[in-house]
Amino acid sequence: MRLYVNIDHVATVRQARKTDEPDPVRGAVLAELGGAHGITVHLREDRRHIQDRDVRLLMETIRTGLNFELAASSEILDLACELRPLQTTLVPEKREEVTTEGGLDLGPSENRKALAAALAKLEGHGIRTSLFIDPESSALERSVELGADAVELHTGEYANARGDARALELTRLADMARRGREMGLAVHAGHGLTYENVIPVAAIPEIEELNIGHSIISRSVFVGLERAVREMGDLIHRAPAVVEEGGVWVPPMGF
Ligand code: PXP
Repeated sequence: MRLYVNIDHVATVRQARKTDEPDPVRGAVLAELGGAHGITVHLREDRRHIQDRDVRLLMETIRTGLNFELAASSEILDLACELRPLQTTLVPEKREEVTTEGGLDLGPSENRKALAAALAKLEGHGIRTSLFIDPESSALERSVELGADAVELHTGEYANARGDARALELTRLADMARRGREMGLAVHAGHGLTYENVIPVAAIPEIEELNIGHSIISRSVFVGLERAVREMGDLIHRAPAVVEEGGVWVPPMGF
């Protein structure tokens, strides 16, 4: 399973002062030294955190691959086609939201039309495509119809749920990951994953990539980014064995 580290949150701190530090491009170097398999950024239409300059420099400097998140209808599509990152993930975007709140709404035909056009354009430039969707069969079916290479299952409901509700959400993620694979999609997952909740998701065998940002960057404030990424990578690596032994990972005292 690959760990892609979302470094938007480094840019959020920089933009709080509209200065030049901390630089997410330097953050990407440390994330890679910590074992990240790739770097994820979301260039939002309002440029609230990541800037065009960041994406351009990341394309020149990272040693892994860039997962470029963007909204289908934005002018940012042209930038993606110019820069040709390894992968693009199409996400919904509302200006008033704090972070991406739900998966793409693939119900309305105008949404599907916009996505189909975006996917065709990206594929025409040789860029791998993924759709950020809620873990639902209908969304998987529509992703296949649209011709996406991959889907990223939204793990926010799982992360927010507690007790039995969380167990149900986990089952839903595992079922949808299996269905997605059966349909020929590559399956990724992300949103709201933390050191405390990542293990059961990382143990789902059909999921091949996790996108994690907030929890890693939060921990990095105290332990440094390289270590924070390495610790998350270790948990993901150990996840299948921990789950097989019927265990849960309990953060050590003072974690
Ligand atoms: N995947 C997508 C599509 C996202 O929009 C985000 C948030 O930027 C993430 C993953 C990472 O979420 P988090 O910061 O909660 O780990």
